[in-house]
Amino acid sequence: MAVMDHLEEKSRPTLYRSLKYWGKKPHSIWREIIEYNTNYKDIVYDPFAGSALTFFESLKSGRKPVVADINPLTLFIIEVYSGNYDMEKLITRFNVIKNIVSNTTLYRKNYIGKCMNCGKTIDIYNYRWSGNTQNGYSYKCPFCNNVYTCKESIEVYNEDLGYWKPDLNIASFQSVCSSSLKYFGSDLISDVWSSRNLEILSLIFNLINESDSDLRLPLMFAFLQTLHLTTKMCALRSEKTNRPLSTSWGRPAYMYLKNRMEQNPLLQFERSLFEKNGVIKALNSKEEYLPQYTFSQDIDDIDRVDGIVMLENSKVINGFNADFIITDPPYGPVIQYGELSCVWNCWLEKFDPKYKLNLQDEIIVNNYKGYDKYLQDMTAVLTNCKSILKNNCMVLTFNSNNTQDFDVINKAIINSGFNIKHKFLQKNKRSSEANVSATSNMSISDYYFVLEKASVCVCI
Ligand SMILES: C[S@@+](CC[C@H](N)C(=O)[O-])C[C@H]1O[C@@H](n2cnc3c(N)ncnc32)[C@H](O)[C@@H]1O
Ligand SMILES: [Zn+2]
Repeated sequence: MAVMDHLEEKSRPTLYRSLKYWGKKPHSIWREIIEYNTNYKDIVYDPFAGSALTFFESLKSGRKPVVADINPLTLFIIEVYSGNYDMEKLITRFNVIKNIVSNTTLYRKNYIGKCMNCGKTIDIYNYRWSGNTQNGYSYKCPFCNNVYTCKESIEVYNEDLGYWKPDLNIASFQSVCSSSLKYFGSDLISDVWSSRNLEILSLIFNLINESDSDLRLPLMFAFLQTLHLTTKMCALRSEKTNRPLSTSWGRPAYMYLKNRMEQNPLLQFERSLFEKNGVIKALNSKEEYLPQYTFSQDIDDIDRVDGIVMLENSKVINGFNADFIITDPPYGPVIQYGELSCVWNCWLEKFDPKYKLNLQDEIIVNNYKGYDKYLQDMTAVLTNCKSILKNNCMVLTFNSNNTQDFDVINKAIINSGFNIKHKFLQKNKRSSEANVSATSNMSISDYYFVLEKASVCVCI
């Protein structure tokens, strides 16, 4: 197994950059591990699929992926990339949406200004806030071909456009910083956006829903990328960085930021479609990188499709055979995947009720689920893996600085009838990736465990 140690991560193709998911693994390393451990057409199973890289890397290698996750984002991304889209039609529809949104009074009063250099009309990219004080705004003037930051403030104009908005209560979420709810303004997820941004988002969402059925998925994909980047959780970069149009949701928490950037939802939607890591580039990238594929959500279809994705609790998944398993389970309490995902999922479920996230099924440690339950759940999934696994090798990755998390993983591995044949630390290349350096509970390197069934392996 030594060949699997210290692999070098290659640069990520755009198809992996467009969907934000906490804790994404290095795609090229996973592919090398998959290829090393399997043959052409072998079945590769991942019970915690997340952003679906096992699915895509297995397809790329000519293997057959079977993946599961309780998070519908996994199904969503596999569905989006399985389609072929008429780009011209997509762009035309985007322009219609842009036209409608930018002609509303709400948009015009909040996001249209005058260039301080040439005096022509410009779209405001973002407002800079420090608490309740607006410290100005930034924009890119298409006439001067320059980016400006203006120190003046512009009065906020609010209006209820009357479209559907999410009303999920997040007060009980472990991932909500305790003081933030007060600043957000209520217990509802809708208050992670400013009132004007929420209204504009709800209008864009409504227009996506009214689009032709063959365009809804890619438009929704761009909308998902827009959502977290238009909240009150987006950091203002320091002036030194000289990137007044750039921000991120960097910490894995619902966290109101005093010094924040309020981004224009329409422009962010446009950027999410057209920019470097946007949907159009991602769709082109998947065409170059992946074979065309078919998929099903039903494991019984395994012989007639290229891959299976199950929106299910992997505790109850059993009854098929896999040649190899590779997975990256939740890391104890470190990242609250399900809760954090609600920023997207509360809209996604409205977009199509089949994308339902069942938080009760999540294997995690938080205010409601302790370490005993985590051990029980991880043991159940790994026991299923043992019976699903036809051959002897399974790879499991883990990331935490907390010994208790490791204790549980070790126990679950042993309890379910596996031995740890080998383990190694794999340095993460992307220290800038928020998910890698996100919390003090995370390690800069990922741990890789190579497991074998206990009956055929001597424990070390
Ligand atoms: C560490 S993340 C996987 C990230 C993935 N490796 C990637 O690169 O995107 C763990 C995943 O386990 C999923 N999960 C948690 N409980 C689950 C369950 N009972 N059944 C299936 N998936 C579950 C979470 O939704 C999350 O996507
Ligand atoms: Zn100008």
